[in-house]
Amino acid sequence: MNASGNVDHYGRTIDYLRISITDRCNLRCRYCMPEDISLISMKEILTYEEIIKIAEAAAKFGIRHLKVTGGEPLARKGAVGLVRNLKQVPGIETVTLTTNGTLLKPVLPSLKSAGIDAINISLDTLQRERFREITKFDRLPEVLEAIEASCSLGIRTKINTAVMPDINTNEVPALAALSERLPLSVRFIEMMPIGYGKQCKSYDNSLLLKTLKDRYPDLHPIPEKQGYGPAVYYGSAALLGNIGFISAVHGKFCGSCNRLRLTAAGELKYCLCYEDGIDLRRLLRSGGNIENAFSYAMQQKPKAHCFETPEQISEQKEMSRIGG
Ligand code: 5AD
Ligand code: SF4
Repeated sequence: MNASGNVDHYGRTIDYLRISITDRCNLRCRYCMPEDISLISMKEILTYEEIIKIAEAAAKFGIRHLKVTGGEPLARKGAVGLVRNLKQVPGIETVTLTTNGTLLKPVLPSLKSAGIDAINISLDTLQRERFREITKFDRLPEVLEAIEASCSLGIRTKINTAVMPDINTNEVPALAALSERLPLSVRFIEMMPIGYGKQCKSYDNSLLLKTLKDRYPDLHPIPEKQGYGPAVYYGSAALLGNIGFISAVHGKFCGSCNRLRLTAAGELKYCLCYEDGIDLRRLLRSGGNIENAFSYAMQQKPKAHCFETPEQISEQKEMSRIGG
């Protein structure tokens, strides 16, 4: 790869790939998979061998950071072994996981020994009944235990809170307060109009920042990078960890976008917002060259999403199929 091989038309360095390993999930979050939607068949889902081949090709074109996601990645057998193998792909520097946390606690030691670099755990509420209303399952205790256990094992841990007006905005201070006691990042994500998320309103993160400044008057941006994504982080003397904001809608961060996405069915996507992508599964299964696909994909990345003009959003797939 030449020095600028992973720099796109807009000067952005593309070094991060999100890999959805399954469209299945054991929860039914109202903004993601509120009902039993049709699933892709197992033979349409990439095998782990195919995912490794894709990661190897990606690394040759400058991808350095991988995120394993779903659906719920731990709902697929062998996910921990995949993490171990991805960590060994030459050129890959970090492998992280995004999970709903319900199946996490028992596999934490093996994830740690596989070399996981960080774990993002979704948590939209601290109230058991509300958790059941949002996800349709009574699984909050397992998630909270997994969060504690991940921190005690010294794994870098981040909480993802999808903010839903009228549903959980009143819990923002309590969720943020988790970082008073635990060395983790609590990140508030603006709801994006993709899949069922279109039916939810998006709350402006800058309003949350104002609320949180009432509780932590010294809340200030921290310059150090905490990860490889678009979150902006804030610290306070009262916090062991920190608070992050992913303001995809009200704080467009496309100018610094560094990512490509691989769907569970093997489509390499350039942007969350548009349906365009390359069918890597078909290419792989027909013996085609997937390495060129990466340099092509990097050059296809659009300048920005168009969440503010929903009629232009061409992506129709559910978030569980794309991997968030
Ligand atoms: N907008 C914003 N966040 C979403 N997530 C799922 N769907 C959406 C959406 N439409 C979140 C989940 C999870 C993370 C991977 O993405 O809550 O924490
Ligand atoms: Fe499952 Fe995550 Fe979607 Fe909830 S948001 S249904 S936990 S994939």
